[in-house]
Amino acid sequence: MNGANGANGHHVLQVRDLHKAFTLHLRDGLTLPVLQGLSFEVGAGECVALVGASGRGKSTLIKCLHGSYGVDQGTLLYRTADGAVVDLAQATPRQVIALRRQELAYVSQFLRAVPRVAALDVVAERRLALAAPLPEGTVFDEPLHDQQLEAARAPARALLARLNLPESLWLLPPATFSGGEQQRVNIARGFVQPARLLLLDEPTASLDAMNRRVVIELIREARAAGSAIVGIFHDEEVRDAVATRCIEFH
Ligand SMILES: Nc1ncnc2c1ncn2[C@@H]1O[C@H](COP(=O)(O)OP(=O)(O)O)[C@@H](O)[C@H]1O
Ligand SMILES: [Mg+2]
Repeated sequence: MNGANGANGHHVLQVRDLHKAFTLHLRDGLTLPVLQGLSFEVGAGECVALVGASGRGKSTLIKCLHGSYGVDQGTLLYRTADGAVVDLAQATPRQVIALRRQELAYVSQFLRAVPRVAALDVVAERRLALAAPLPEGTVFDEPLHDQQLEAARAPARALLARLNLPESLWLLPPATFSGGEQQRVNIARGFVQPARLLLLDEPTASLDAMNRRVVIELIREARAAGSAIVGIFHDEEVRDAVATRCIEFH
């Protein structure tokens, strides 16, 4: 293998024999098998598109990779920036949180709006994870936090402008924004910090053509910068523009 798959030809992500079922407790414990023996890998700079009808388990896979859902069987081997291999299916909550801060990014279909936080800071705060963590036992340093947040606002502004979010909205909390405006804040948050593994769940679902094109550019730039991407793109034009490979969900 060559450089396209990252250092020494290693994949960033290797999914092996993944099984996942949901138990429906409200329906007498009925089991709903969703993922049955899924295997694939993703290298740096690749974008794998998950393709299939609604309800086939695409979002479930993304949530397993983000450490939100446990799995029933199989491994989700993720190679970290420093070369360690972590099974995302077995990672501790602490490991998952650390990886989300530093290496994983997830753009969900919906923004989980934090009350009272301005759109600009919803985006900027994502970059604070890059700042060195406080030493154990240190109390929260508010002046330092404010200084780091201010520095993070510049790239946040640049992305919100690129995504054509009106500047009049930047200092307002996104809770009352339209679906498309909230989604652009969500996308800006997902892209404001480089990610080694980028998970995208229908990022363009509520966007107009102009902003879809911006998202296509952002995804291509992330690929060029070496991100490994797993995404669901309901829009075929977007999928064709960004995906290097498709996985069919039957
Ligand atoms: N947390 C959950 N509990 C129970 N069933 C779920 C849960 N999440 C998803 N499902 C079910 O799993 C199936 C796959 O859902 P999902 O992964 O969202 O599909 P897709 O993203 O391909 O449309 C659906 O039948 C859905 O109802
Ligand atoms: Mg889905």
